[in-house]
Amino acid sequence: MGRPLRIGIVGAGAISGAYLSTFERLDAVRLTAIADLDPVRAQAVADERGVRALAVDELLNDPEVDLVLNLTVPAAHAEIALKAIAAGKHVYGEKPLAATLEDALAVIEAGREAGVRVGCAPDTVLGTGVQTARKAIDDGRIGAPVAATATMVTPGHERWHPNPDFYYQPGGGPLLDMGPYYVTALVTLLGPVASVIGAASHTRGTRVIGSGPREGETVPVNVDTHVTGVLRHENGALSTLVMSFDAVATRAANIEVHGQTGSLIVPDPNGFHGEVRLHPLNGEWETLEPSAGYLDSARGYGLADLAAAPAGQPFRADGDLAYHVLDIMTSLLAAAEKDAALTVASTCKRPAAVPLQTAPQAA
Ligand SMILES: NC(=O)c1ccc[n+]([C@@H]2O[C@H](COP(=O)([O-])OP(=O)(O)OC[C@H]3O[C@@H](n4cnc5c(N)ncnc54)[C@H](O)[C@@H]3O)[C@@H](O)[C@H]2O)c1
Repeated sequence: MGRPLRIGIVGAGAISGAYLSTFERLDAVRLTAIADLDPVRAQAVADERGVRALAVDELLNDPEVDLVLNLTVPAAHAEIALKAIAAGKHVYGEKPLAATLEDALAVIEAGREAGVRVGCAPDTVLGTGVQTARKAIDDGRIGAPVAATATMVTPGHERWHPNPDFYYQPGGGPLLDMGPYYVTALVTLLGPVASVIGAASHTRGTRVIGSGPREGETVPVNVDTHVTGVLRHENGALSTLVMSFDAVATRAANIEVHGQTGSLIVPDPNGFHGEVRLHPLNGEWETLEPSAGYLDSARGYGLADLAAAPAGQPFRADGDLAYHVLDIMTSLLAAAEKDAALTVASTCKRPAAVPLQTAPQAA
């Protein structure tokens, strides 16, 4: 087994804890440094983990950092990634790849020119949930795929989030916030998307914060909060998407996939595991044993998967997939605005399936 990839984290906020705990059980990666605009946050993690707290620019140029793990807010994703690439580092970031498609393209192109790897969350699709469902499809257990549905509804994150403003501004909304999980799962299950139609609405011009010091304060709504659409996959399958901050509850499956000889229920793509259920044409619902995916995986396995891939070889949670997913989502919103079907300009390779296994090993 080779040397672990040395990781420097930029962004020591809420999600960083999930990565830090996963790193303890991954041989393919080793944390060496952390940085944040707020040095107190970085120092706290550094003390706890026995690594160095550095200024952001120091970390980006540090000789003991091979890859920059970008856990900043979406508005800073492209800036940090571009600086890291310019310093010759590989990058892996939280979703979305960038706040706009233009910025995301700049990151992809810079990475390609520099010959470094660009990876991006979500890596939830590498767990046993989506991968077991994918194996059922690839093994022909539902026959030729025909369609899928993906449903995410909530009455709104302002009920629990103390600072929910960004969910209701451009770049937020139910599709860009939760869509990366669902759309990445649909591309993993059914392949890339060729075109989209969309329709979207919003019911209220303001939202009321439901918790924390700002409870009772109203925040403006400047995005559509109920977004629906149809994705036409390159293989001809049609995925219907419902993403809503305007609905109370649902009993619909997070994702269903229908084929000519069977239907599948896929667990929550915002998690790594969960029950996969299959209904064959002549049979009843049955639960499938986990048969593919990284066992006991959690946030960070996509990064370990990148680290484990030999030089020059593909890895699964890559920038091309993240770019295509962002392109699908922004095209869908544009289609809703224009009331027209739109071609999705980009495509990507369907990432390789993950055979059932424990953690990725260092290359
Ligand atoms: N919080 C979650 O549950 C969650 C879940 C999945 C994905 N994510 C994603 O993770 C990312 C971070 O979310 P979070 O909830 O941890 O946010 P957060 O606000 O808690 O943390 C972000 C951190 O990045 C730092 N930062 C911001 N700009 C920076 C810059 N230019 N240079 C250096 N540091 C900078 C901030 O100081 C902060 O400490 C987002 O892209 C989000 O979509 C979050």
